[in-house]
Amino acid sequence: MRVLGIETSCDETGVAVYDTEKGLLAHQLYSQVKLHADYGGVVPELASRDHVRKTLPLIKAALKEAGITHHRLDGVAYTMGPGLVGALLVGACIGRSLAFGWNLPAVGVHHMEGHLLAPMLEENQPEFPFVALLVSGGHTQLVQVKGIGDYHLLGESVDDAAGEAFDKTAKLMGLDYPGGPRLAALAEQGNGDRFTFPRPMTDRPGLNFSFSGLKTFAANTLAANESDQQTLADIARAFEDAVVDTLVIKCRRALKETGYKRLVVAGGVSANKHLRAKLEALLQKQNGQVFYPRTEFCTDNGAMIALAGALRLQAGEREPLAVKTYPRWPMTDLKPMVNINDAV
Ligand code: KG4
Ligand code: ZN
Repeated sequence: MRVLGIETSCDETGVAVYDTEKGLLAHQLYSQVKLHADYGGVVPELASRDHVRKTLPLIKAALKEAGITHHRLDGVAYTMGPGLVGALLVGACIGRSLAFGWNLPAVGVHHMEGHLLAPMLEENQPEFPFVALLVSGGHTQLVQVKGIGDYHLLGESVDDAAGEAFDKTAKLMGLDYPGGPRLAALAEQGNGDRFTFPRPMTDRPGLNFSFSGLKTFAANTLAANESDQQTLADIARAFEDAVVDTLVIKCRRALKETGYKRLVVAGGVSANKHLRAKLEALLQKQNGQVFYPRTEFCTDNGAMIALAGALRLQAGEREPLAVKTYPRWPMTDLKPMVNINDAV
């Protein structure tokens, strides 16, 4: 089955073609980073308008890259939520309409399920069940995954998401949007022994997170010290170490609680090198394995939507003709995927 995937939930227009037998045939990405940079964050209305401009040209480019016309497609998948409502509506309207015009089935994909399944774009694919750490700009969640759509929430952030904490702290430090990767790059030059940040909520049982205090801790540390380049790098390093250690401690607990030996890490923050290295070391010690997508598929992209959509379309799922989006949509609302072909 060959599926066109469209992602427009935030500030990236992503389009891809995924073939369930041959794998990824094409993927195109346009990032709106420059558009929003002057404002220090995503401006929803500008995001929607830019998706309007970019989605159709990217679809044409993706089909060309795959060397096919729409006649060779078997379905269309688009991100249906969660995300910015205007941005989501662009991808959903275009995806649903094209599927109607081309007489193809359509399916709406949950953005976080897309992230969660993204490691399946790689050769080294996780088998079910596994624990998933989803760390993006909007979510920090530990999820027990028994199968596609079979998600049990083990813990989540009670305030800022990990990526949000990276971005807000980066802003405090005067770094340009998008701050997370810039803060991580600055931390490379930092000395990890100069400042020690707390590891929030690790001193009590449970799998929830809280990252907003780290931002305040960073603000206080900045105010109490000179803001020379080395000090900024040292603060960046201490902040990054605190977030990474906290995530690693909770992953260890989640693996212990479930008894699972496989960990999937996905979402924008999974691009963080230190997080990957520490989780890899943890799973190695436990004779387990950690899985993540290649770096370009950690952040938002169309490939993960095409893949998740292909799996759901293959199982017989179909979206009715109405264009629907869910700006807020807990992933645990999804139902375990039932393959209607198996039931016959
Ligand atoms: O998944 P994503 O592209 O968009 C959302 O669905 O939110 O994640 C974006 C988030 C941003 O907060 C960004 O700062 C963070 O991922 N991020 C990073 C790194 N690369 C992206 N955070 C820490 N280290 C990185 N290397
Ligand atoms: Zn995302």
